[in-house]
Amino acid sequence: MKKIEISLGDQSKLLNLDAIENFTQKHTHYLDEALSKEKIYENSLGWLDIDEWAGEVALKRIQDKANEVRNDADVFVLIGVGGSNQAARAAISALPQENAPEILYAGNNLSADYMNKLLKALEGKSVYIDAIAKNFETIEPGVSFRVLRQYLEKRYGSGAAGRIAVTGTKGSSLYQLALDNGYTFFTFPENIGGRYSALCDVGLYPMAVAGIDIAKLVQGAKEMRERLSVEPAEENIAFRYAAYRNLLQQKDYRLEMMSFFEPRFYYFSRWWIQMLAESEGKDGKGVYPVVGNFSEDLHSIGQFVQEGRRMIFETFLDVTERDSSLIIAGDDKKDYFDYLEGNDLWNINKIALQSTFDAHDKGGIPCMKLTIPKLDEYYFGQMFYMFMFAVYLSGKMLKVNPFDQGGVEDYKKNMFKALGK
Ligand code: PA5
Repeated sequence: MKKIEISLGDQSKLLNLDAIENFTQKHTHYLDEALSKEKIYENSLGWLDIDEWAGEVALKRIQDKANEVRNDADVFVLIGVGGSNQAARAAISALPQENAPEILYAGNNLSADYMNKLLKALEGKSVYIDAIAKNFETIEPGVSFRVLRQYLEKRYGSGAAGRIAVTGTKGSSLYQLALDNGYTFFTFPENIGGRYSALCDVGLYPMAVAGIDIAKLVQGAKEMRERLSVEPAEENIAFRYAAYRNLLQQKDYRLEMMSFFEPRFYYFSRWWIQMLAESEGKDGKGVYPVVGNFSEDLHSIGQFVQEGRRMIFETFLDVTERDSSLIIAGDDKKDYFDYLEGNDLWNINKIALQSTFDAHDKGGIPCMKLTIPKLDEYYFGQMFYMFMFAVYLSGKMLKVNPFDQGGVEDYKKNMFKALGK
């Protein structure tokens, strides 16, 4: 099986080999600590051993319920915000699916216009929902769930309950609501934080409803787990990624841009932004994660990246295997693009990636490239696990707690006060 690889452009070599070696030696013990389910974070490491929450029994229960929903649903609404929806959305928008119900999203904004349009889009369709919330106090998913639940009750009467799943912690008010009303209950593990929840009921149930092969995705994650536990720090892909970004940060690079030329990665990049921003942005520290959604963004922020203030480093996502093809046909009209005749659009896009990588690298941007053999469930599972583990390591290197997010509470408290909670 081909492996996901990480490589550095020439500018990244401003991190000379000695610096990388020194840093690696100094921090190697972090890798052992992270792999050993260290005590200090034991309440947040439920994702580390994938079988704990995504073993055979859990996968079967998820798949059975998802099959039931898939047989009848035209639309499935995923209600959740932040870690409660990002991983599923990332996989659903990137991976191929057959006979999928339409997947819509709610609970991640408070726009009346958005909600009204969503309700309109449900008319005449067979609707199922999943409300995902770890503490079930956040207003966005809470109020969206109420509106959608009432909508279903109005439409389906006592049949509404069979269309509602909730994913919360055992003993929470969401759990009680499920018990009282006969909703399907999925577990939001106590020992997994929202943004680390791709590989448990939280992420896997919506993915399975969409028709994603969750067994293959989990298998990919497990093999990445295996790989990370045997590769020594200097070869370890997660450790190396974490080390490079910390070394660059020490050299005053303040922004990391995830750049990709495949729009299917857009929601994956949103997931990645959350992973890094919420895990590292605290105690006055952190690298600010941004996205280069290319080619579009080459014609906006691309100018800044090429010639603006030097504070950005870039991580490119590059997929090796061609999974779509469109040959540019000849044309007798003079548009002066004949030099592209016979070329595959897939190939032209590849050339765009390499040309951009080289231009940015030569322009003084430290560039890394993650080469992903194929855009499928298996490698998606690998990427989820690799980045979760790398963010954990990176937080340790930065000396911040990668599992809390106290700063998110401040706006919530103001809202609770303003709304009379
Ligand atoms: O990573 C996290 O913990 C957060 O992004 C949460 O997922 C997000 O704030 C939503 O929390 P909840 O599901 O409790 O509403």
